[in-house]
Amino acid sequence: MENNKFYITTPIYYPSGNFHVGTCYCTIVADVIARYNRLIGKDVFFLTGTDEHGQKIENKAKDAGVTPKEYVDKIVANSKELWKILGISYDRFIRTTDEDHEKCVQKIMQKLLDSGDIYKSEYEGKYCTPCESFFTESQLVDGKCPDCGREVSLVKEESYFFKLSKYEDRLKEFFKENPDFLIPETRKNEMFASFLDKGLEDLCITRTTFRWGIEVPFDPKHIVYVWVDALSNYISALGYLSDDDSLFRKFWPADLHLVGKEITRFHTIIWPALLMALDLPLPKRVFGHGWLVVGGKKISKSFGNYKDPREYLKYSSVDSLRYYLLKEITLGLDGNFDEEMYIQKINSDLANDYGNLVSRTIAMAEKYFSGVLSRKAYENELNTDSDNELLKKITENIAEYKINNDNQRPDVALDKLMEIVSFANKYIDLNEPWVLAKDESKKERLAKVIYILAETIRIVTVMLKPYMIETPKKVFEQLGTDIDTWDSIFEFGKIKDGTVCKKGENVFPRIDSKAVLEEIKKAEEEVKKEESSNLEGIKYISLDDLDKVELKVGQILEVSKIEGAKKLYKLNVDLGKEKRQIVSGLVPYYTEEELLNKKVIVVTNLKPAVLCKTESYGMILAAGDKENVKLITVDGEMENGEGVH
Ligand code: MSP
Repeated sequence: MENNKFYITTPIYYPSGNFHVGTCYCTIVADVIARYNRLIGKDVFFLTGTDEHGQKIENKAKDAGVTPKEYVDKIVANSKELWKILGISYDRFIRTTDEDHEKCVQKIMQKLLDSGDIYKSEYEGKYCTPCESFFTESQLVDGKCPDCGREVSLVKEESYFFKLSKYEDRLKEFFKENPDFLIPETRKNEMFASFLDKGLEDLCITRTTFRWGIEVPFDPKHIVYVWVDALSNYISALGYLSDDDSLFRKFWPADLHLVGKEITRFHTIIWPALLMALDLPLPKRVFGHGWLVVGGKKISKSFGNYKDPREYLKYSSVDSLRYYLLKEITLGLDGNFDEEMYIQKINSDLANDYGNLVSRTIAMAEKYFSGVLSRKAYENELNTDSDNELLKKITENIAEYKINNDNQRPDVALDKLMEIVSFANKYIDLNEPWVLAKDESKKERLAKVIYILAETIRIVTVMLKPYMIETPKKVFEQLGTDIDTWDSIFEFGKIKDGTVCKKGENVFPRIDSKAVLEEIKKAEEEVKKEESSNLEGIKYISLDDLDKVELKVGQILEVSKIEGAKKLYKLNVDLGKEKRQIVSGLVPYYTEEELLNKKVIVVTNLKPAVLCKTESYGMILAAGDKENVKLITVDGEMENGEGVH
């Protein structure tokens, strides 16, 4: 039974915003792989879900004025809705806020403590909140996060550490002994060059400076680092360390963790080390796929080059979207998502090749035989060369389709499938059924040609089942058969004698590319217009207006309180060539000592005013509101009186 199970996972997503086609990519690919394995008869468990804890989510919820749970609940509902639309056939949608997951993570932490793999110390280093990742100084690129290029912050806090360094040798050994553990090969080289060869440092696995996470059971002031929390989902979802761990015993180790390239290191270094510490078998394979890019940039919310996938579904179908992502993007490499190319591909591969094959064949069956398919004619008539070639092609390509799907090359598997489709279209041209139809003595041959075509369509449609959701159902209905099992494609001639096929709606209508692209352009312009009208509330000033304000660097030489004024200081400010008396409301925010010698920015051409009987000849700039006010100053040495531009 061991070989008959298949456990596949996607990363669990941060519910931190809208999902775009880039974030859907991995889940769609995983769904195709899951459906393929179900088709070939495996017992599949397909896991996906959401990674809901961490500082990033806590901050976002705060900005939105809701609790973290309220914040994530809304996004999770949206993502589930989207998975439904995209036909994602997961067996469990895990949320890291699920009670069983939280309990499991706590037990894992306790186990790691008991095995001596955790110790308490202090962490000081850089942290990228959007990526929820710790970095050493040398890993930063220009002082910024090497993964997303954003600013990192300094974190200094008491933490528990996981002894990652202890597992370095075992990990290297494991990589050597299991050449297929991480693919593609390039990712393995990256893991060695960037991490394993440099030496592993122990990993900080708890935080104390925010609360949105799972409490560490033996020290509740701490919460579990979000990546340890998240990675554990792959076993918590199966009931690891719970009263019922039957799924865990059946499905672990995972057959395939499908992940994006930037998170490969978490899955091939930290995760295996944690599993080693827990004394559990390691996943059989981690596949680090590439990114979907638009205009050369990763599709991402932060680059603003994303669209809700539902936008593409306004003019195309889920099946064509799934087909395009699987066929045109080589799994493992980055791939461009270009809408013009997308439409072209739908028209050429799906409308012209596959769709046409289906509609032509069924139309001919209806025209010449009232839709009745003749298995007898197929048996009785001798095979011609073109019959034999088509049948040979089908047998060969089914084998290659399987090998490539087994090896996570769904793009090549689809090529093999589509080769059968083009072969079948050529078969029509070679056999010219419309000519055969004119000769009564060729009626049986014509019936055989139509039967062979119908059976070919049946076989490729079974092969399409992992890739498409609605189309196979529609095509089987039109063919008038429900023989759609994997085994059935190894024997040509399964459609029963007398089966009646019936033309239905066109499965892939041609898209009017020009009209749709114009619509897309119009919609994009609308969005731009809307964005700029959102800015209409702003009162713009011209450069000339700005020039009217004279700003200079000054230094505070004297500070004194003004009698009878609670908030005002009288300041003497050195502006290089002159000294000025300025009144400023800084009493609640700065002491006299704090202000002395401070470099500040002064508006020097503000009309003089009298405040609490004290004359003021300028204004000092500060940021903030009533609660929190900070002076604006210069970043480094600067002469008093220097202009500010
Ligand atoms: N929460 C972590 C994963 C934890 S798994 C234990 C995370 N979440 S994420 O929401 O930021 O990303 C989820 C997945 O989406 C990643 O595998 C990432 O590579 C993928 N993608 C995000 N943008 C993408 C593209 N533009 N193209 C392809 N995949 C992309 O990381």
